[in-house]
Amino acid sequence: MSHPQSAPHHTHYDVIIIGAGASGLYCALTAGRRGRRVLVLDHANKAGKKILMSGGGRCNFTNYFVEPEHFIGDNPHFCKSALSRYPSWEFIGMVEAHKIPYHEREHGQLFCDDSAQDILTMLLDECAAAGVQVRLNTNIDRVQTLNQDNQTRFQLTTSKKLGKKDIASESKSSQTSYRCESLVVATGGLSIPTMGASGLGYEVAQQFGHTLIATDASLVPFTFTDKTGELIRALAGISLPVIASNERISFKLPVLFTHRGLSGPAMLQLSNYWRTGEIIRINLLPETDVTTLLLARKKSHPRQLIRTVLTENTDGALPKKLLAALQTHLWDDIKETELANIKDERLVELGDTLNGWQLKPSGTEGYRTAEVTRGGVKTDEVSSKTMQSHLQEGLYFIGEVLDVTGWLGGYNFQWAWASGFVCGEVV
Ligand code: FDA
Repeated sequence: MSHPQSAPHHTHYDVIIIGAGASGLYCALTAGRRGRRVLVLDHANKAGKKILMSGGGRCNFTNYFVEPEHFIGDNPHFCKSALSRYPSWEFIGMVEAHKIPYHEREHGQLFCDDSAQDILTMLLDECAAAGVQVRLNTNIDRVQTLNQDNQTRFQLTTSKKLGKKDIASESKSSQTSYRCESLVVATGGLSIPTMGASGLGYEVAQQFGHTLIATDASLVPFTFTDKTGELIRALAGISLPVIASNERISFKLPVLFTHRGLSGPAMLQLSNYWRTGEIIRINLLPETDVTTLLLARKKSHPRQLIRTVLTENTDGALPKKLLAALQTHLWDDIKETELANIKDERLVELGDTLNGWQLKPSGTEGYRTAEVTRGGVKTDEVSSKTMQSHLQEGLYFIGEVLDVTGWLGGYNFQWAWASGFVCGEVV
C-alpha cells in the first residue's frame, strides 16, 4: 500500500538549533530574548533528557569554583572566553529568580533540593517566554547551504520520527524543510545512546570541512579482566577515600568497587585523563606513609602481624573486607609472619603498593554509562567568542559536541550554559 507524501513546505527562522538539550535550550532562550525567531529541533520525544537524569535526578547544574583548569581539550584556552563572560553566578541568578531550591555539596557542587525537572522547567519556561519554538520527534535528514541571501543560508530537510503506532499502520513520514540564517549544532556527545545521543553533530561538522578530535567515553568507570578484576568484583559495594592518579593528574576522592570494576568520583575524574593501555595508581591509605609505619612498627612491635599494624594505626581507613582481600592478594605467604621476620625490602614493597596500587584497566564501561564524550569538533576551527565556525559563516557549535570536556562536578553543564549563552548573543 502506498501513501501519498505531503509536499514539503518551507518555514523560515532566524535561528535553528539542532538539539533541545542543555546548551541548545540556553542558546535558544538567549537568542529569543533578543527578538530572534528561534526554532529548536530534536529527534527525541522529550527535551533535556540528560538534564533530567543528571546528578542522580537532582542535576548538579553548576559549581561555585569554575576555572579553565577544570576542562580538558586539545586547546585548553578555548573555553576561557565563554566561561569568563558567563560565570556560574549568572546561572545561579536564574535558578534563584525561578525560586528553585538548591544546595551546595562538597567541592562547590550545586544541586537542586527537589528535582532536576525544576531546571528543565525553568529553561523551557524561559524559552516559551522568549517566543522560542521547540519541535520534538523530528529527524534531521539533510543540511544544505543555499546560495541565496543571508536570511536563507541553510536549509534543513526533516521528517517526523515515526512512533511504534505509525510503523504498525505503515504511515509514511512527511518531510518538512526549514530555512534559517544561523544554524546552531547542539547535539551533545555520544554518551547514553538510549537518551537520544547521536553522531549527527559530528557529521554536520565534517560536511562543512571541520576536523574531529577522536571521541571516547569519559567520566566513566573502569573495567578489569585480569585477576585484579576478580579481586575488585569480590569487593563490590566498598567505598573509601583514596588518591587516584596517573602521570598527568591526581584526585583525592572516593573510589567505589563494583561488580563491573572501579567507579566513584575518583575513577570518573581520572577517566577524563586516561588513555587505553595506561596504568592508574591508587593510594589506598592517603593519610599514612605505609612503608614508614611498617618499618617503625618492626622496630617498636617486632611481634606484630602486618594486618594488625594496618588495623591499629590507620583509624580504620581500610574496610575489613578490603584488608582481608588485599592480604590474600599481596602478602598471603607472610600473613602469619611476625614483622621481625619479614625483610625490610618486602615491607617497603608492600608500603609502595598500598600507597600506590598500580592497576591496568582493560577498558571502561563505554558510552553506555559514560557521563560525557571526550573529543569532538576541533576548537581551533571555531571562534571562542561566538562559537561560530571559521569554515562556514552562520554555522555554530555549542556544548559537548565541541572538544571541551569538563570535570565531574557541574562543569559540563556550566560549559553548556556558557557556550549556549555567548552563541545566543550573536546568532
Ligand atoms: P545534550 O546531550 O544535553 O543535548 C543534546 C540534544 O541533542 C539531545 O536532546 C538529543 O536528543 C539531541 N540530538 C542528538 N542527536 C540528534 C539528532 N540526530 N537529531 C536531532 N536531535 C539530536 N553534567 C553536569 O554538569 N552535572 C551533572 O550532574 C551531570 N550528570 C550527568 C549524568 C548523566 C547520566 C549523564 C549522561 C550526563 C551528565 N552530565 C552532567 C553531563 C551533561 O548532561 C552534558 O554534558 C550536557 O547535557 C551537554 O549538553 P549539550 O547541550 O551539549 O548536549
